[in-house]
Amino acid sequence: MNDAAAAALPPFLRACRGIPGGPGDRVPIWFMRQAGRSLPEYRSIRGSGSILDAIADPELSAEITMQPVRRYGVDAAILYSDIVVPVAAIGFGVDVAPGIGPVVEQPFSRAADLERLRPLDPEADTPYVLETVRILARELPVPLIGFAGAPFTVASYLIEGQPSRTYTRTKALMHGDTALWHKLMERLADLAIVSLRSQIENGAVALQIFDSWAGALSPPDYEKFVLPHSQRVFAEVADLNVPRIHFGVGTGELLGLMASAGADVVGVDWRVPIDVARTRVPANIALQGNLDPALAFAPWDVVAEATRDVLRRNAGNPGHIFNLGHGVMPETDPTILERVVELVHNEGRCDGVAS
Ligand code: CP3
Repeated sequence: MNDAAAAALPPFLRACRGIPGGPGDRVPIWFMRQAGRSLPEYRSIRGSGSILDAIADPELSAEITMQPVRRYGVDAAILYSDIVVPVAAIGFGVDVAPGIGPVVEQPFSRAADLERLRPLDPEADTPYVLETVRILARELPVPLIGFAGAPFTVASYLIEGQPSRTYTRTKALMHGDTALWHKLMERLADLAIVSLRSQIENGAVALQIFDSWAGALSPPDYEKFVLPHSQRVFAEVADLNVPRIHFGVGTGELLGLMASAGADVVGVDWRVPIDVARTRVPANIALQGNLDPALAFAPWDVVAEATRDVLRRNAGNPGHIFNLGHGVMPETDPTILERVVELVHNEGRCDGVAS
């Protein structure tokens, strides 16, 4: 990319590529789970049915995706959808229970269950997702991030049947029937690849793979049972030439391995200071994070200091996208997040000079 093309990139896409900004350019910021949850304007239009019904309504989903962009002035939008949409659309029998998360009628437990995971045809199975993406590509003033659940995190829901703290069934299958585990991961990787490609082809300009629960694994288990499949997902979307973000929670010990999966950007939760995270990934990888989402409940001066601490530790490195270490919590006061955005935009530097 030449200098003129680089200078014309929106701040979010520039940071994903680690391209330095000028002295006046801002550090980009967006929030995981910015759409929905804490926003009163979301609650007033969301309705009371399953989130999967809301996602099937493109006008509604596009509006929900845009709400946080209007309210916070964030530098990127994330598609309003869910990581279980592809498996639900092919009829695996998944719903999302309010306040709980994904629940599965008949969890995955044996080889015959592979039959319930046929390939995804996005045009036929999730046309509403593609329509939402097309509306947003026309109307959004900032880049749209498409996403998919990583094979491991989606597998954990299919096997446990509900959110889990221990992942005992998942680990039992992984170690007890390794051949079946890898077949399941291959199917889920295929779903992620096809879904991501369709989102990009319809107008998303970056993608994030959520391996939210990968931090439950030891590095050797991650490397053996998960990494090859996530690597394949990243490799099979590489030709689309959009920035690829790889995110998980509690992944301090996995950051190097996650970077090796092929991402351009690695997400960092709040447990690892961002300057320490830098020492764990190659220098050409950008970082996304990492304000503790729970701190949004502290007094403003504490939040401001913690925000500044992230900026200071990043020391002006152009490869930084400011975010929370995980998603916005439902009870968060949106005005706090508005102030975080303002502070990052006013004080953050991306020209290689420390803030
Ligand atoms: O900003 C955004 O939130 C964009 C849309 C989005 C949703 N889910 C909408 C949603 C995204 C990117 C996701 C991804 C997702 N879904 C992840 C990975 C991100 C992460 O936080 O780690 C995971 C693990 C899921 C599975 C899932 N879906 C959970 C654990 C829950 C929580 C249940 C709850 O009520 O909080 C959901 C439901 C869900 N997905 C909601 C939203 C806005 C809330 C419920 C609703 O509004 O009906």
